[in-house]
Amino acid sequence: MAVTEPSGDHYILSSGRDGHERLRLLCALHDPFTHTLLLDAGLCPGKTFVEFGCGLGCVSRWAATRGARTTGVDLSHDHVAEASRLASEAGIEHVEFRQGSIYDSALPQGTFDFAYCRFLLSHLSHPIAAMRVMAACLKPGGVLVCEEPDLKTIYSEPPSQGYAQGVKRILELADSLALDFRFGNKLALSARSIGLEVQRADAYQRHFLGGKEKGYWTWSFSEARPSLLNTCSSPAELDKCLSDMRKVDRDPKVMVGHARMHQLVARKPS
Ligand SMILES: C[S@@+](CC[C@H](N)C(=O)[O-])C[C@H]1O[C@@H](n2cnc3c(N)ncnc32)[C@H](O)[C@@H]1O
Repeated sequence: MAVTEPSGDHYILSSGRDGHERLRLLCALHDPFTHTLLLDAGLCPGKTFVEFGCGLGCVSRWAATRGARTTGVDLSHDHVAEASRLASEAGIEHVEFRQGSIYDSALPQGTFDFAYCRFLLSHLSHPIAAMRVMAACLKPGGVLVCEEPDLKTIYSEPPSQGYAQGVKRILELADSLALDFRFGNKLALSARSIGLEVQRADAYQRHFLGGKEKGYWTWSFSEARPSLLNTCSSPAELDKCLSDMRKVDRDPKVMVGHARMHQLVARKPS
């Protein structure tokens, strides 16, 4: 189903090489949960699997090593090139990467056993239209699996001005761009609204007292600085907020809770 790309999508993070290291950390943080989710959802050798917004292709490569015939799609030429390079370097077969938007990926309809995305719908102005595209790719009885965050749930304990301000600003930015950085909350009901049978609606949340992982969201917000500047009264105010978040990240007496991740497994009726 090719959908005329709805205007107004703004991807606020780097889609070039400078975003690769952050995406690698994202994969390290979430891949173990994703693998369990997909195996529980029935992914096994011989299934066809498509991932939208695949980034560096970590999940697609893993699915191919589990025997799934895999296609990864991403808007960024740069991410697709890196995902393809990593797959050939590792000698992984049965995986191909394509550049394209989820709204217009030109994939055949009704052909996949699984359609998957992670950290994609919350970056789109029309997430439910995107879910419809994913559902259209599925065979009858095929399975949609999505993992999306609720950024309002990022916090520090004890509470800090830096994290409170950072979360406030990022949600204001989402509002100003007509994006929903809380879309994780809406996954299950959105799936039901497009006629899918929800099989699992769950969530998990990662917490850290130290390590590089603790600062993941500070890193993301820093990458979004050019866009965040539009919601702050001055560059100095934003830089103070980011510097306060970094101080929290370095303080072993403060715990940081990452964004709660919502997980959806839904079936296309036969
Ligand atoms: C936050 S990254 C997540 C990457 C990957 N899903 C992961 O979890 O590691 C979001 C990805 O979505 C891609 N993206 C953004 N808008 C897109 C669109 N309209 N269609 C397909 N991919 C898109 C970006 O290029 C980026 O690689």
